[in-house]
Amino acid sequence: VPPAGFADLLIAWQRRHGRNELPWQNTRDPYRVWLSEIMLQQTQVTTVLGYYQRFLERFPTVVALAVASLDEVLALWAGLGYYSRARNLHACARAVAEQHGGEFPRSAAELQQLPGIGRSTAAAIAAFAFSERVAILDGNVKRVLSRLLAFDGDLASAAEEKRLWRHAEALLPAREIGRYTQGLMDLGAGICSVRAPQCLLCPVSELCAGRAEGEPGRYPIKTKK
Ligand code: ADE
Repeated sequence: VPPAGFADLLIAWQRRHGRNELPWQNTRDPYRVWLSEIMLQQTQVTTVLGYYQRFLERFPTVVALAVASLDEVLALWAGLGYYSRARNLHACARAVAEQHGGEFPRSAAELQQLPGIGRSTAAAIAAFAFSERVAILDGNVKRVLSRLLAFDGDLASAAEEKRLWRHAEALLPAREIGRYTQGLMDLGAGICSVRAPQCLLCPVSELCAGRAEGEPGRYPIKTKK
């Protein structure tokens, strides 16, 4: 897959067909970007919208969130599920307030040191808020890239997952990293679906090795445990 070709097609498609009006897309405030990414980790966009607005009204800044009680944060989180996310959210806000002077660090490497922020989430925040050229690799993107590359490794293996991270890095565009990152997410959420990939609507179907083989749905490879 020619990296530039892939990124250019994805970026042009995202501009025209991707999601561009979500409330956390109209900001580069790392607090807002972080809050949305944590909420979106295991929850659908339509559910997140209301929670996101209520959190911002009650906690307009990371310091406002840091000085609140954990009980209040958990109460506002009620219904979103995966409550360890809310505990980490609060711990992260306190760490930003106490260790970073109330300002989120501006690199993925530093963001990843904070509670509840893994490698892919750190990269998404850094790409959206700071235009850092870093790769994301969440569950949807693993599927998109596995199909694109006909990647035959078992992602349960740490070494194979590392290999896919290197592919993700090799595909990054020189510019428009935020739109590219959103494009990967949009493709994974709407087109390159688990069950029935919509290749006829996909902007990169002509580059897709999984489709060329005739069976994109067999990626990512799942070995029985
Ligand atoms: N899921 C995770 N991050 C997202 C984003 N920025 N937009 C839409 N869905 C997402």
